[in-house]
Amino acid sequence: MTRPLIVVNFKTYASASGDAAQVLLEAMEAHATGPATMVAVVSAFDLALLSQASEHVEVWSQHLDPVGLGGYTGWLEPTTALARGASGSIINHAEHKVPLDHVEQLLAMLPEGFPVCACAADVHEARALAALNPTYIAVEPPELIGGDISVTTADPSIVSDTVAAVKSVNPNVRVLCGAGVKNGNDVAKALELGAEGVLLASGVTKAEDVASVLADLIATL
Ligand code: G3P
Repeated sequence: MTRPLIVVNFKTYASASGDAAQVLLEAMEAHATGPATMVAVVSAFDLALLSQASEHVEVWSQHLDPVGLGGYTGWLEPTTALARGASGSIINHAEHKVPLDHVEQLLAMLPEGFPVCACAADVHEARALAALNPTYIAVEPPELIGGDISVTTADPSIVSDTVAAVKSVNPNVRVLCGAGVKNGNDVAKALELGAEGVLLASGVTKAEDVASVLADLIATL
């Protein structure tokens, strides 16, 4: 049985950037050999340092662009990300949307088996992304992102409907869910709805006691 994923998106939170990102990574490291696979999705600025510091936490990029080495000012070029230690990436996050062909071209240029989690706002988008064969699809209703109510409570059917839709298009794709996820009950509910993990941010990055939140997230697994 594959371990569920707890994917923490550091975004550009001050509490998850620079020195604070290293502290957060260490807190995640304390749980990284437990019942869940821990993934830190970090700023490109912090990627090299955090991937070197990490022992068991997977360190992913927050975005990548389908460009090569050369004249691409400001773009996130994949082979450089890999060389700096990225062991996966998210793409098409609600806060960094890209056209479908961006995802398609990116997947085509990444090495076989490099995990990519494509984010979807709804079932329709998830279905379109599933056809491109990303490793994961994370369904996140944009209006619930950063809020206090978990998608698993506010809109459980979007999770189960996305799982059904994605599996009908491409059974290889694993589905995650996110937006408002805060605790172990939300994680348990996500799994019950057919997801294989969660993608979250503020529940961890804005927590007063990060260690307790991380422990709670995996408590029901
Ligand atoms: O990428 C995760 C994210 O968009 C969900 O954010 O703060 O609702 O957990 P949050």
